[in-house]
Amino acid sequence: MMTVLYFSVVLLFSTVLAIIRVDYPFQNSSLPWDERVNDLVSRLTLEEIQLQLSKGGGWEGGGPAPAIPRLGIGPYQWWSNCGRGDVAAPGNATAFPQTIGLAASFSPDLSYRIAVATANEVRAKHNYFISHDIYSGRTGLSCFSPDVDVLRDPRWGRNQETHGEDPYMSGVQSQAYVRGLQGDHPRYVRVSAGCKHYAVYAGPENYPMSRFDFDPQVSMRDLRMTFLPQFKMCIDAGSYSVMSSYNAFNGTPVCANKFLLTEVLRNEWNFTGYVLADAGAIENVINTYHYLNNSVDTVAACVNAGCNIEVSLGAKVPVHVSGYVQMCSSVTNKQRQC
Ligand SMILES: *[C@@H]1O[C@H](CO)[C@@H](O)[C@H](O)[C@H]1NC(C)=O
Ligand SMILES: *[C@@H]1O[C@H](CO)[C@@H](O)[C@H](O)[C@H]1NC(C)=O
Ligand SMILES: *[C@@H]1O[C@H](CO)[C@@H](O)[C@H](O)[C@H]1NC(C)=O
Ligand SMILES: *[C@@H]1O[C@H](CO)[C@@H](O)[C@H](O)[C@H]1NC(C)=O
Repeated sequence: MMTVLYFSVVLLFSTVLAIIRVDYPFQNSSLPWDERVNDLVSRLTLEEIQLQLSKGGGWEGGGPAPAIPRLGIGPYQWWSNCGRGDVAAPGNATAFPQTIGLAASFSPDLSYRIAVATANEVRAKHNYFISHDIYSGRTGLSCFSPDVDVLRDPRWGRNQETHGEDPYMSGVQSQAYVRGLQGDHPRYVRVSAGCKHYAVYAGPENYPMSRFDFDPQVSMRDLRMTFLPQFKMCIDAGSYSVMSSYNAFNGTPVCANKFLLTEVLRNEWNFTGYVLADAGAIENVINTYHYLNNSVDTVAACVNAGCNIEVSLGAKVPVHVSGYVQMCSSVTNKQRQC
């Protein structure tokens, strides 16, 4: 929770601070970030918290995370894809080669330069969008990129988004990409990166089974040698975000998988950013996997496993938001774990 708000606050401050008065400590840029975040979180109601956590989706009903006018905070749109330029966003954009082609250049420097150009464009367009009150999908600053899934099954429909079959190569290229997107300013990020899809993903694409509920069987050795190294490298480069994937691992959907999201990501790798569930992935935990039988248990399992933001899909949101409401209402103010 703290982590999620920390980064949303960093992003929001970087865009709105100039126009808001310093009525609260969290608005005071002379104070340390932690102090400001703690101050802000302490002022949020449970309903505000659950809406910020559950409104990561891009389209109608899903997002943006709503404004909190009484605290001078605007809406925020979490959904952006920056994989080959900002081409998915409204308006014109510079298109770059798809990632598999970029990887074939064997040039981290090229990845870096493309990421810098993309980030500048995403930032510039974001500034335009918010100045016109446009918060639809793909107008934000939080890229769901780079894709560091390792290419294992040539039938997968998204292999072109990956850096190919080599974990080390994927890691090196993604590190350059993350640094290019985020920049190296000590205080401001150009845009935030997101290493995806964590983990053991990369197919199938509905053949021979659905990517929404498959449970790949990999040994710990294969996990550690093939599926995790590039994620650790991507995170070590400073990525603010990781996207948790649709699949399960060892029988537990990844969004509810404490081993992957907490034990490895937080405890082993010291990741301090936010984990964002792939679009509809938390809904799948209940609707597709039937892993748990109600939205409260589902949300609780995912949040407790280490998932921070839900990228929800419009139609199913009301059911799901009620899960947050009920779950959040059941914790004390002090815990604030929801
Ligand atoms: C902001 O924080 C600094 C450092 O604590 C303090 O000196 C200053 O008075 C604060 N500014 C406002 C407007 O409260
Ligand atoms: C995109 O570019 C085309 C060609 O230059 C131009 O006609 C059009 O107005 C541009 N669209 C936007 C939204 O800027
Ligand atoms: C994570 O932090 C702990 C405690 O500071 C440290 O011992 C450990 O080496 C760190 N792990 C990594 C992968 O950086
Ligand atoms: C969900 O409900 C079904 C039918 O009542 C039951 O068999 C199953 O054990 C429940 N699953 C969980 C995780 O509680």
